Amino acid sequence: MIIGHKGTSAYAPENTLASIRKAVEMGVKCIEIDVQLTKDKEIVVIHDYTLNRTTNGKGWIKEKTLKEIKVYDAGSWFGKTFEDEKVPTLAEVVKILPKDVWLNIEIKSIARERGDIEARILAIVKAHDILDRVIISSFDHVSLLKFRTLDQDIKIGLLIYAYWINPWEMIELSGIKPYSIHPAIEYLDEAFVVEGKKRGYKVFPYTVNSIDEYHYAMQLGVDGVFSDYPDLAERNQ
Ligand code: G3P
Ligand code: MG
Repeated sequence: MIIGHKGTSAYAPENTLASIRKAVEMGVKCIEIDVQLTKDKEIVVIHDYTLNRTTNGKGWIKEKTLKEIKVYDAGSWFGKTFEDEKVPTLAEVVKILPKDVWLNIEIKSIARERGDIEARILAIVKAHDILDRVIISSFDHVSLLKFRTLDQDIKIGLLIYAYWINPWEMIELSGIKPYSIHPAIEYLDEAFVVEGKKRGYKVFPYTVNSIDEYHYAMQLGVDGVFSDYPDLAERNQ
């Protein structure tokens, strides 16, 4: 399975509705997005802490209201045809998500300033009745533990960058009870996949954009990979 990274970020501006629609059109069955809180505590879908790289605006997300963020063009940097794209809210993404497509919501807030983003995400997930096809992930494991405390059933994906010593003990002692582990592909090896699966976790490495890494991950038996290219396997045939 290919998880559409930021929608389908190779073919449309990342984390926009155009990117989500394109991923759906290309047959993606799970889409990953990054979310953060605005100054007025709305949840917006954007990767960086600032508007600078992916919009024509400047400044920190946490210092702008949703109304201020909505003014900016989040598509032209990628291509002229996307100039009408705006930074979407989480609710806007959920509204266009087909019923057979899963959503991986990655919490990107600055960890020490996270506020109550977990409860706000959970409220949106519940209001739209998509709990059974959502995975909440983050590199901020304190945030994931908060999520687990709020809801015992929600699927949590534990993002890991570096290779830990004794990762499984740490994961099991954490109380997060993850559904899946999302390791960086650079650190992925056979022992990690074998042990992770033995312990009952799904393993989804990120971000796999080369066909060699894709074959490597598949041959290790992962459950899926994050990719900017939903058609990664076909485009390399
Ligand atoms: O969720 C997988 C991947 O998106 C994590 O890294 O920086 O691309 O959000 P990043
Ligand atoms: Mg991400």
